Amino acid sequence: MLPASMDTLATTALWTAVSRARESIRPDRLFEDPLSSALAGSDGFASLDRFESGLVGAAGIYVPVRTRYFDDFLLRTARDRGIRQVVLLAAGMDARAFRLSWPEETELFEIDRSDLLAEKDSRLAQTGAVPRCRRHAIGVDLRFEWSDALLDAGFQPETPSVWLAEGLLYYLTESTVHLLLSTIRRLAAKGSHLGADLVNSDFLWNPVTRPGLWFLASHGVTFHFGTNAPEGLFWSYGWRAEVKEPGDSDVSSGRWPYPSLPRSIPSLPRAFFVTAKAESHDA
Ligand SMILES: C[S@@+](CC[C@H](N)C(=O)[O-])C[C@H]1O[C@@H](n2cnc3c(N)ncnc32)[C@H](O)[C@@H]1O
Repeated sequence: MLPASMDTLATTALWTAVSRARESIRPDRLFEDPLSSALAGSDGFASLDRFESGLVGAAGIYVPVRTRYFDDFLLRTARDRGIRQVVLLAAGMDARAFRLSWPEETELFEIDRSDLLAEKDSRLAQTGAVPRCRRHAIGVDLRFEWSDALLDAGFQPETPSVWLAEGLLYYLTESTVHLLLSTIRRLAAKGSHLGADLVNSDFLWNPVTRPGLWFLASHGVTFHFGTNAPEGLFWSYGWRAEVKEPGDSDVSSGRWPYPSLPRSIPSLPRAFFVTAKAESHDA
């Protein structure tokens, strides 16, 4: 069981692990995550059963499509760009350190709250899993100062890195998102890469998504942040961003059931998959 001190937001890490466990046993799976079931735990499966309606149910498609998209992004960046430092922000029960075939010498930093990472390590210990890179687990709260903890773990800010903020930004307030992007940018050398998913502002208020968001908020999982201008947000921190949506043909893996509609159509709820490159270090 998750420690009682952990809030429902931490439980979202179990939900994503359940989604990956379910995906892993599909004949047409987009990836295989053999640790996801142990990381989700019986409490994760039971919790998702209770919440599985509306938005959380849709996550059963969203999470696998997103996982595959960012798996490909991380491996492409590591292999083709020679990047050997990977930072997973809000790593939750992500098992990429164990399941992806990283180039030799890869240092992978998992950041999440310390109680969640302690629970993760205890679940991992029961599997005997061995990471396929040098894995560093860093327990911090991303709302506050955390860069020293990353540097203390051996992160080299002068060397390019690849970052992933997956399943995180919508749970943060706008000021925390800006603080986070500013901190990342200080630590990410020119030539670094960043992946993130986020929602648009309309997602937060649209009548289609609003009931599901209210339901989640009433259980302690509140969506705070969205933007209709993701390219501008990332560019203000020196990242040149490419923005995709899960329905785009080169993203959906044939799984996302809705086509992407042009961004010129206003007021629609949208999710964005962002990949970005650091253009300069003085943003
Ligand atoms: C939806 S889960 C995503 C986990 C993982 N990225 C994945 O895709 O499986 C959200 C994660 O954000 C983490 N998180 C939320 N707010 C945080 C904060 N202020 N500091 C550190 N981690 C945070 C939670 O602990 C949880 O693990």
